[in-house]
Amino acid sequence: MQKYISPSICCCDLSHLEESVRALERLPVEYIHVDIMDGEFVSNYCLGTEFIPLLHSLTNIPLDIHLMITQPDRKLDYFAFSPGDIVSIHAESTFHIQKALAAIRARGAKAGLAINPATPVEHCKWVLEDLDVILVMTINPGFAGQRLVPQTLPKIAQARQLADTCGHEILLEVDGNVSFENAARMSKEGANIFVAGTSSLYCRTGTLEERCHLLRQAIEPNQSKAG
Ligand code: DX5
Ligand code: ZN
Repeated sequence: MQKYISPSICCCDLSHLEESVRALERLPVEYIHVDIMDGEFVSNYCLGTEFIPLLHSLTNIPLDIHLMITQPDRKLDYFAFSPGDIVSIHAESTFHIQKALAAIRARGAKAGLAINPATPVEHCKWVLEDLDVILVMTINPGFAGQRLVPQTLPKIAQARQLADTCGHEILLEVDGNVSFENAARMSKEGANIFVAGTSSLYCRTGTLEERCHLLRQAIEPNQSKAG
């Protein structure tokens, strides 16, 4: 099962964005996680619509765009995302989940559905055909640096089980306090994409390369032994 690292760009040194992106390009990471927050769906503001084309102008690493905004189905055209990007909306943010997911795919991106800690995995059941990613929030979204909500861990295995009933591959993403220790457990439960924020890649110990290696070891222990 493929494992991908998606560094959370809102946790990098934004005052030196180009340098931070170049540093990520030197690492074995597969996506860049971009948190967009509107101050309404979550009580925080983070990055804006212009950030997407800016990042695309800086790097070829695909973006993993996490829309923490209300009524995303009405606002998709605000974001110039590219084919190959992942665009995740929240199940709690619109009455029109299937319509929003279909619209993301119609724009050439991979469609993701994010579920908050209290939202049942079953909310994904009737849109599996429209999904490429299920994003299991392992914290309450809005702020980096929070502690894992422990009851979200069993949801990862549940989401994996549900995703595996679908005829096409659905990746499982985890976002929030993905520490080295938590990442190992999340990987065992079936997660594929790991949002790397202040709990791992942007924590304070060692170098960025060392932290990335530690995270890779945690999520793919056998690979790392072989590698
Ligand atoms: C939180 C964000 C993430 C993440 C950051 O809403 O979606 O970017 O939490 O990583 P941590 O939790 O490790 O600081
Ligand atoms: Zn996020």
